[in-house]
Amino acid sequence: MDKKEEPEGFNEAVNKAASTMHRFPMIEVQGVPLRNWIAQNWSSVSAFCPDPSDLLISTYPKAGTTWAQEIVDLLLHNGDTEICKRAPTPVRSPFLEIHYPPPIPSGLDLLKTMQPPRVIKTHLPIHLVPKGFWENKCKVIYVARNAKDNLVSYYHFDQMNLIHPEPGSWEEYFHKFMEGKLHWGSWYDHVKGYWKEREERNILYIFFEDMKENPRREIVRIMQYLGLLLSDDIIDKIVELTSFNVMKENPMANYTSIPKVIFDHSVSPFMRKGEVGDWANYFTPAQSQMFDEDYARQMAEVDIPFRTSI
Ligand code: A3P
Repeated sequence: MDKKEEPEGFNEAVNKAASTMHRFPMIEVQGVPLRNWIAQNWSSVSAFCPDPSDLLISTYPKAGTTWAQEIVDLLLHNGDTEICKRAPTPVRSPFLEIHYPPPIPSGLDLLKTMQPPRVIKTHLPIHLVPKGFWENKCKVIYVARNAKDNLVSYYHFDQMNLIHPEPGSWEEYFHKFMEGKLHWGSWYDHVKGYWKEREERNILYIFFEDMKENPRREIVRIMQYLGLLLSDDIIDKIVELTSFNVMKENPMANYTSIPKVIFDHSVSPFMRKGEVGDWANYFTPAQSQMFDEDYARQMAEVDIPFRTSI
């Protein structure tokens, strides 16, 4: 690993702060529930000013963020496997708003150590994205995943992420998702917010299901949006390197480097299934009907072509 790109002793700092780690409460920021540490540092997050060359990858949690980060890193480095294994995902592509108890470095701490162009991850809904991204006309890739699979993935993640609020039972979690009470708020508002602004703000809006169906096609779309032109062979290589099975075994992309006081992969691995349609293994027919009726109400004003199967 390139020394310069190591997190400032991230794991050491987490280990030092291990006794203070727990399922942190959330505090609302402009109507959006965020971890207390993020909310308490909100002014510095919102004041962050990117360089025009910086790229933002935005998603509702569990929509395919890590997948998009890996694709972008490989595209930017012409498919060079070694370079793309220089550091774990959150070091190569820092998480804008993330804050932990000190002395654990924040996303902003990490960004300060890097030169633009940087690839920055966020889960912030569009109205909370620091305005500098829009003023500087930064490119933004938004990945969206159908609500039902997104919910199932988030349910498993909130069990293994030991600093997120307790997920409770499946039934409870199901309702919290529909009510927008999970960390980073409403899935519905999130996907709608970026959808409505995608043309005005030149946002590349892509779908998890499209990436599963035809990863090559979506990788080419991302490449073109970034203004890159890679050879067919390199594109094929990137398709392979960013397949679920390869990423699952890649310690620089599967989040196994994060200390167990934060992510406990024995509860549920970060790279869990990576499928479209897994929701059908969790939703009862009654839940599916209730969810669909509520979905129709919450999504009435837009026509976003989500697919719950491919
Ligand atoms: P599942 O829990 O359904 O398996 P995020 O990176 O936004 O946290 O999203 C994580 C989800 O994306 C997980 O979904 C994970 O398995 C899936 N994922 C990550 N990389 C993937 C890939 N290369 N192909 C398919 N799914 C992937």
